[in-house]
Amino acid sequence: MAQEVRGVIAPGKDEPVRIETIVVPDPGPGEAVVRVQACGVCHTDLHYKQGGISDDFPFLLGHEAAGVVEAVGDGVTDVEPGDFVILNWRAVCGKCRACLRGRPWYCFDTHNAGQKMTLSDGTELSPALGIGAFAEKTLVAAGQCTKVDPAVAPQVAGLLGCGVMAGIGAAINTGNVGRGDTVAVIGCGGVGDAAIAGSHLAGAAKIIAVDIDDRKLETARTMGATHTVNSRETDPVEAIRELTGGFGADVVIEAVGRPETYKQAFYARDLAGTVVLVGVPTPEMKLELPLLDVFGRGGALKSSWYGDCLPSRDFPMLIDLHLQGRLDLGAFVTETIQLDEVEKAFERMHHGDVLRSVVVL
Ligand SMILES: NC(=O)c1ccc[n+]([C@@H]2O[C@H](COP(=O)([O-])OP(=O)(O)OC[C@H]3O[C@@H](n4cnc5c(N)ncnc54)[C@H](O)[C@@H]3O)[C@@H](O)[C@H]2O)c1
Ligand SMILES: [Zn+2]
Ligand SMILES: [Zn+2]
Repeated sequence: MAQEVRGVIAPGKDEPVRIETIVVPDPGPGEAVVRVQACGVCHTDLHYKQGGISDDFPFLLGHEAAGVVEAVGDGVTDVEPGDFVILNWRAVCGKCRACLRGRPWYCFDTHNAGQKMTLSDGTELSPALGIGAFAEKTLVAAGQCTKVDPAVAPQVAGLLGCGVMAGIGAAINTGNVGRGDTVAVIGCGGVGDAAIAGSHLAGAAKIIAVDIDDRKLETARTMGATHTVNSRETDPVEAIRELTGGFGADVVIEAVGRPETYKQAFYARDLAGTVVLVGVPTPEMKLELPLLDVFGRGGALKSSWYGDCLPSRDFPMLIDLHLQGRLDLGAFVTETIQLDEVEKAFERMHHGDVLRSVVVL
């Protein structure tokens, strides 16, 4: 029998979000219903609300979540009721060309639930990133549930479901940051700070944090940054070069998503260094660079979707490191809030007051 729960929807472009009754169907074959315990507020939820991702309103927002599996449909064997899971937006298919070539993090056919959650009048909802977890319960594909050690607090675990995984993965998986490397991270929000924490974990020798907000730079230090640059006051390219013996950094991670910060990243890396773009640009943005510089400087220009993560490989490992005290995921939680405070959390995010607000249920 379908159940009715409370959830936060974005009803239309730029309209304030509101709480509605959500009808959650029983899980069908390959699906699971999850009782959500915590869900972080990510910049992408705001993009959805603003109509920046698609026009498929109404959206059921929220996608950085952890909770407990309540019920599973036919054929589900990897998770069972009672399992503590982090929800992921990369349930890989195992059959597409990318999966078959052994690169499942590029999977073209990731799974979401087949059935739709609806409003009580039957209006179909579009769950953010196929998750929709600003709700007491949500329906997902079973492959979107990744089991992790239940000893971790849900408000901490859920963060790996998007932004923190994107940042850590941008450093470790995409940027291949390794022991002794020099790294610069431009933009120190939740994603940039996670890239800093990831670089620290990987043994980077020098980690330079760049932001336009001194508060963000202070937090970046607690995440492992060894140097900070306020790029409103100081040219970040020159500063990064100076801090790296005149060379530039081995890996520069762009976590803002703007052409001007991308250019800074491009010129702040050493010859044959790597740029990783993890910030998400908007459709009208254009990049202009001398092609000769692209050629002459060599190296790799990469982008990073979801930190090139494989949830089944990366989530349990990172939770274990957290539980061992080697990765302070708790530092990303600025505040915990209630379901009816999401709109306020967007405002605080917009003003740069938080790394992550996390809804706890
Ligand atoms: N690639 C992915 O899979 C993925 C996943 C989640 C989020 N993201 C994207 O990552 C980006 C960052 O997300 P977030 O949650 O950390 O956002 P955020 O708003 O918390 O952080 C952005 C940071 O950039 C700083 N900033 C803004 N303009 C700047 C400039 N010109 N120079 C230097 N710093 C500047 C801000 O002060 C802030 O600290 C967003 O574009 C988001 O959509 C990407
Ligand atoms: Zn696939
Ligand atoms: Zn997100």
